[in-house]
Amino acid sequence: MKLLTGNSNKILSKKISNYLKSKLINSSIRKFADGEIYIEINENIRGNSIFIIQSISSPANDNLMELLLCIDALKRSSAKNITTVIPYFGYARQDRKVVPRTSISAKLVSNLITKAGADRVVTVDLHAGQIQGFFDIPVDNLFCTPIFARHIKKNVKSKNIICVAPDVGGTERARALGKSLDVGLAIVDKRRPAPGKSQVMNVIGNVKDKTCIIVDDIIDSGGTIINSAKALKDRGAKEVYAYITHGVLSGEAVKKIQNSVIKKLVITDSIDNEIRVNKAKNIEVLTISNLMGEAIKRISNSTSVSDLFK
Ligand code: R5P
Repeated sequence: MKLLTGNSNKILSKKISNYLKSKLINSSIRKFADGEIYIEINENIRGNSIFIIQSISSPANDNLMELLLCIDALKRSSAKNITTVIPYFGYARQDRKVVPRTSISAKLVSNLITKAGADRVVTVDLHAGQIQGFFDIPVDNLFCTPIFARHIKKNVKSKNIICVAPDVGGTERARALGKSLDVGLAIVDKRRPAPGKSQVMNVIGNVKDKTCIIVDDIIDSGGTIINSAKALKDRGAKEVYAYITHGVLSGEAVKKIQNSVIKKLVITDSIDNEIRVNKAKNIEVLTISNLMGEAIKRISNSTSVSDLFK
């Protein structure tokens, strides 16, 4: 078994390689003057099972293309099998046609990865579980719930916690965290009047005097979480925390979070944000390297991955 990293999140790849005590494959990923990506594997990998670690994070198009070219290079170098380890699976939010005449990017990206030659996909907190069915190869969707639950039990000193889904689509995720903390659930009724804009219509559940933990898969512009936190405070919540797996954090998101009513935003390192968030006092980053490393180890040894979440 060997590990190959793309350029999207080398820090996480290094941590995973440390966990597995397995060196990263010697490779060069460069660009031609016109921006085309060029990949070269600098060691023999014939007959090896290869795990490529690459998030489809910003710049999403470059990182996706890099992933596809890595798969192609490995296939042409006679790798025995190729597992794409995608900590952040970008393009997942377009998973159906919500209005006429739009694309379903999650399906297209799934087709591209399969067609390039991947044998398996490992990812974390997919935007929608059914994206697994867009692939005809095995997909292991890992969950951050245990990492978040451990952090909350240790750090959030409150006896009156409630988990909050920031939209109806996030109910299952919030319910799972609520179950592991043995607390109740509230749901924010969010609408999107236009792409990238969110509006809170209502809060279902009583949040008065409670410590609210908002759980979501993605924080992008921050609008969803900031508006939800404000709505919860307006309805009497004592304090609001947010636990979000993928810190996309576009534009002014970090600044907006710092100026919001959110007591703490906890994200993971599925996307490399080290420089952008290290000065933000109310943002903390948890690593998913052990979770990913352990999943890789279990896949490689053909042992159960789902046992990780029991
Ligand atoms: C949407 O369904 C996702 O789960 C997130 O809630 C959304 O992507 C967050 O976006 P933003 O931070 O821009 O509101």
